[in-house]
Amino acid sequence: MDKDILIEKLKATYFPEEIEIKLPLIEEINRLKKEKNAVLLGHNYMTPDVFFGVSDIVGDSLYLSKKAAETTADIILFNGVHFMAETAKILSPTKKVLIADLKAGCSLAESITRQDVINLKKIYPGVPVITYVNCSAEVKAETDICCTSANAVQIVNSVDSDTVIFLPDEYLASNVAKHTNKKLITHPGRCMVHEMYTKQDIEAIRRQFEEVVVISHPECNREVVNASDFSGSTSQMEEFIRRSSAKNIMLITECSMGDNLRSTFPERHFVSTCQTCPHMKKITLEKVRDALLYEQYEIFLDTEIIEKAQKSVYKMLELSFKKG
Ligand code: 13P
Ligand code: SF4
Repeated sequence: MDKDILIEKLKATYFPEEIEIKLPLIEEINRLKKEKNAVLLGHNYMTPDVFFGVSDIVGDSLYLSKKAAETTADIILFNGVHFMAETAKILSPTKKVLIADLKAGCSLAESITRQDVINLKKIYPGVPVITYVNCSAEVKAETDICCTSANAVQIVNSVDSDTVIFLPDEYLASNVAKHTNKKLITHPGRCMVHEMYTKQDIEAIRRQFEEVVVISHPECNREVVNASDFSGSTSQMEEFIRRSSAKNIMLITECSMGDNLRSTFPERHFVSTCQTCPHMKKITLEKVRDALLYEQYEIFLDTEIIEKAQKSVYKMLELSFKKG
């Protein structure tokens, strides 16, 4: 990105003094990237310096999975959380896949183990298992089809069964349930960021602003989603804003998403406070630079896990991007 355009984008979030410190780091990362033939994938929840400054491809979980499968780079550095880097490794097993901090986890991914899925399959034999990509590679290996928040309804409705085991997000499950006749067997997993929002937060903002468009992530509880004007994956939220003429927007999701959208849509007014994901925030410019410099921290997965997990992720990509 042109330096002046980048500075303009960063100005929406950082003080000029901070930008001065960040620019040389951004240059160093972009130089290392070329030298190492690395591609940097960045989730929409990355801070603006990582998002605009160094990421080659940005987007939601679904789009980034697709791009991870397509890349010809030698190294994939995933600027997001651990389960996302694992998904990239599952889809590009011969590539070196890195994450800048191995501790960048996820409350949803941590809510469920491979053994939990095996146990559920024993209780409900023959019932298809659909798992949100926010889970470990081991859990994906026990799954029939993965899904993301962008395609969960489509994936659930695609299976030939009246009942589905839908893991591990109970709130996403309850939001999907509104759009399907299938019975969903769920698990008590929650996103620690989105579970903080309440219907009362929305009511308070609606009292303050006469015309406000409320956009929430489907990891929020059903009441919050029902009180919103639109709910979708992070990229679907951006697309909704692009297509709408809303002036005042209440975003019910992670803070950096709001920072990035404020730069992308400077003429819109983003209202209310946000919630921070401590896992996503572990990825900083300094750690991204070190990740490239020292080629750390590499994601390793057993071949057996990769082969089994590949089936569930490829099935999702096939259903989501099928032609016609
Ligand atoms: P999406 O970008 O797929 O909407 O995922 C949101 C999320 O919680 C990732 O941590
Ligand atoms: Fe996990 Fe929620 Fe953080 Fe996304 S925002 S990584 S779902 S804890």
